[in-house]
Amino acid sequence: MLDKDRIQGSDFERYDKSELWSIHELYFKNIGLKAWSSGALPFAGVTSYSETQKKVLLLVENLKQLGYENHNKPIKVLEIGAGSGEFAKNFIYALENFCHSLDLNFHERLEYYVTDYAETTIDEVRKHKKLKKFPNIKYFQFDVLMDTESSSLRDFFGEFQCICSTYLLDQLPNRVIAKSGNKYYEKYIKLCIEEDFRNNEEIRKKVLKSNKWIKKIKKKFDFRELDLEDSIPKLDFDALEKCFRVNKDESTVIYSYGALEAVKNSMKLLSEDGLLIFSDFNAASRPGVDVYEPCYYGNSLAQPVNFSFLYNYFAENQKIILFEDPIKPLHTMIMCHHSYKSQLMLGASYEKIFKQNIAVRVIFRLLVELKFSIYILLLVSVLYAAYYILSEAAKLPLY
Ligand SMILES: C[S@@+](CC[C@H](N)C(=O)[O-])C[C@H]1O[C@@H](n2cnc3c(N)ncnc32)[C@H](O)[C@@H]1O
Repeated sequence: MLDKDRIQGSDFERYDKSELWSIHELYFKNIGLKAWSSGALPFAGVTSYSETQKKVLLLVENLKQLGYENHNKPIKVLEIGAGSGEFAKNFIYALENFCHSLDLNFHERLEYYVTDYAETTIDEVRKHKKLKKFPNIKYFQFDVLMDTESSSLRDFFGEFQCICSTYLLDQLPNRVIAKSGNKYYEKYIKLCIEEDFRNNEEIRKKVLKSNKWIKKIKKKFDFRELDLEDSIPKLDFDALEKCFRVNKDESTVIYSYGALEAVKNSMKLLSEDGLLIFSDFNAASRPGVDVYEPCYYGNSLAQPVNFSFLYNYFAENQKIILFEDPIKPLHTMIMCHHSYKSQLMLGASYEKIFKQNIAVRVIFRLLVELKFSIYILLLVSVLYAAYYILSEAAKLPLY
């Protein structure tokens, strides 16, 4: 397919400006639902019924707390980067089930907005049988990084009672920044891509359909010094600076500026009494200077999100909770406007898992302690056995 002898090497470019990101975008804008039906993009975990149920319960509790039982206003839910539509399907089913068991009519008032920046995906999901049975769904092509004022949702400022996303933030551009002593360095990348990929449209389309071609591209990395305060806005820098490890001379963090932009834009669409619930992979800081290779799914990149950075950025002016799943490598960020009238809560299902989380941690600590105790016990047993054998041997008559 591709002529491997005709490889074009690029110069080193800043990671987020490299061609990797245009390949990623090209992939999503062309592949449609095949990305999920082929198994290239995993989705079962985070869009499953049980995972979706937690978000629905959180929303229902929130709406009850805000008195939505006492009027008949519509309830608008926006999903960004909806992809396969699996989350939407499970969300609507879960809402119906909760409402039936709690004798509420929220499901009848629901307007669910399925959105994605890939038009092909939106067209295909609209026609797909899994969502056809729900008359209360509206479909929009919506790019969360676009200026909201000129986006397809420009007429929906402050309209949504709930805005959700799963595995969207990790798809957005970011930079990899390392701190060594008092200096900052940034990841640069050089790609070696076959010439035909750039010059031949047919080949490009074909290649993008082959799974994980992007991963196989030869890559070289470099770290270049940067003046962090100069090249990163002050507010972002203040939030990011707190993410480096204090007890290490060198550490690396992800500057999730795309995720930050997405959250800022989403907040414009959120109503005063609405909840933003975003779930994604978390990227904790790493010791040393680390290239922080992303994960590759299909021909897209997924770079875990620096949730601590987002938390630091918003915590002063917004109400925000960061929930860490005890089992899956998944964080959920729950956020609302500062003017939100009630106390922001985790909600019963997240609360329950949070408590289980404490139990899991205690059990883990116990196991660690036990492991040490077992080693000590083993050592004592071996010493005792040796002593016993030797002392018994000493008692034997000498012939
Ligand atoms: C990894 S998929 C996740 C899909 C789905 N939420 C799930 O959990 O299975 C990421 C989705 O985000 C969409 N996406 C990527 N960048 C976007 C952007 N800037 N605005 C809106 N959607 C975007 C992609 O088209 C894709 O459908």
